[in-house]
Amino acid sequence: MRDEERVGATREALSELPRQGRFITFEGGEGAGKSTQISRLKDRLNAAGISAIVTREPGGSPTAETIRELLLSGKVKPLGAEMEAVMFAAARADHVDEKIRPALASGDWVLCDRFADSTRVYQGEAGVDPAFLDRLEAVAVGGYRPDMTVLIDVSPDVGLSRVAARSGASGSSSDPDRFETDTKEVHMRRRQLFLDLAASEPSRFAVIDGGTSADAVANEIWQAVRARFPVDLGHAGPAAPDARRDRIGG
Ligand code: TYD
Repeated sequence: MRDEERVGATREALSELPRQGRFITFEGGEGAGKSTQISRLKDRLNAAGISAIVTREPGGSPTAETIRELLLSGKVKPLGAEMEAVMFAAARADHVDEKIRPALASGDWVLCDRFADSTRVYQGEAGVDPAFLDRLEAVAVGGYRPDMTVLIDVSPDVGLSRVAARSGASGSSSDPDRFETDTKEVHMRRRQLFLDLAASEPSRFAVIDGGTSADAVANEIWQAVRARFPVDLGHAGPAAPDARRDRIGG
């Protein structure tokens, strides 16, 4: 057995360990509003008596956060898209080991801002061979595939203008990251790739229109989550309009 197969096999075996919580990932382009919506969903799950943690990629564990800094600074861009994909996968493997698997085993739900679908879309769009991405995913993720993926779909025009407004409002650290500076055509291709992925796995994905208000998006997501997990959330109350008005962000 080659090393990569041995590692993959070990991670598959680990994934057979009891997994009690639900694993929900959020995907979408820049400025889709993922972080706002993740925090809204966490509040609703908590109100329904479910304990949930919020995490993100790249990052989520100390080692993965170190890799995140390298990736988002653009310092490793010269290595090429394939090696960037390797680094995203390395960060993901640590994140699964250190945070996602233990949380799911303890019964927490895990709400993760981006996961392996982002590698398929961003590094796939950059030309990395899908078969290579499959192998990386098998090694990094093992059996820890999401139970549900919420794709928040917005046009690049809307998403990028939100990112620009956010950067302007924050005053400091307004430099766009390595992936936000790509051309509009690249952002449009990523949007289509996300939609294609969702169409290829309709039982895992819920595609939500992120161009409406934060409240409307939160309600749609809550309905989709309740429909996906009727046993856990069947009596969690009606999908009442959420009165709060948080910013719509990344
Ligand atoms: P982040 O600031 O977290 O962006 P966002 O708010 O849009 O989620 O930066 C993460 C960036 O890294 C984002 O541009 C997408 C990119 N990315 C990849 O290219 N591949 C991946 O596997 C992941 C997880 C993210």
